[in-house]
Amino acid sequence: MTQADELVIRPLTAGDRDQWRELWAGYLAFYHTSLGASVYDHTFARLTDPDDTALNGLVAEIDGELVGLVHYILHDHCWKPEGVVYLQDLFTRRDQRQRGIGKYLIEAVYKAADDLGRPTVYWLTQDFNVNARALYDQIAEHTPFVKYQRG
Ligand SMILES: CC(C)(COP(=O)(O)OP(=O)(O)OC[C@H]1O[C@@H](n2cnc3c(N)ncnc32)[C@H](O)[C@@H]1OP(=O)(O)O)[C@@H](O)C(=O)NCCC(=O)NCCS
Repeated sequence: MTQADELVIRPLTAGDRDQWRELWAGYLAFYHTSLGASVYDHTFARLTDPDDTALNGLVAEIDGELVGLVHYILHDHCWKPEGVVYLQDLFTRRDQRQRGIGKYLIEAVYKAADDLGRPTVYWLTQDFNVNARALYDQIAEHTPFVKYQRG
C-alpha cells in the first residue's frame, strides 16, 4: 500500500452487488467455472442476509472500490461443539496482488471466527496453486488430508 491508499476490510453489504459480482466472476474464472444468474442471486442474498448466519462475506475496499473478497461458512462439527469455519472463496483483484490484501482478508476471517468463539478455520486449495500456498504457508498449518468428492 502507498500512504495514500486506505484499505478497509468490512462485511459485504447489499450495495456491493455489482462490484461483488465482478470479483466473484473473476474468482470463478480462475477455476475455469461460470455459474448461472440464479446462483449469483441466491448466494448474494444469503451472504448479505443478517438473519443468515451460515454464509458470510467480507470485502477489501480501497477508495470506494472493491479489490478483494472472502466468503466463509459456519458449520457444526462432531468433534468441536462450538462449530468451525470453512473459508470457501478468496480472491484479490489482479492489479492489487502481493500487497497484503489476501492476508488481511484471511486475518479478518480469523478475527470473526475468534469473536464467534469458534477458532478453527480451514480451507482447501489446489496443490499446484503456488501463489496461494506461499501465503497460506505463512499463516496456517498444512495438513495431510486429501479431498474426495462424489458429484
Ligand atoms: C491467492 C491470492 C488471494 C493472494 O492474494 P494477495 O492479495 O496477492 O496475497 P498477499 O499480498 O496477502 O500475499 C501475501 C504473501 O503470499 C505470498 N504470495 C502471494 N502471491 C504470490 C505470488 N504471486 N508469488 C509469490 N508469492 C506470493 C507472498 O509470500 C506474499 O508475501 P510478500 O508479498 O510479502 O512476499 C491472489 O493471488 C488471488 O486472488 N489469486 C487467484 C485466486 C486464488 O488463487 N484464490 C485462492 C484459492 S484457494
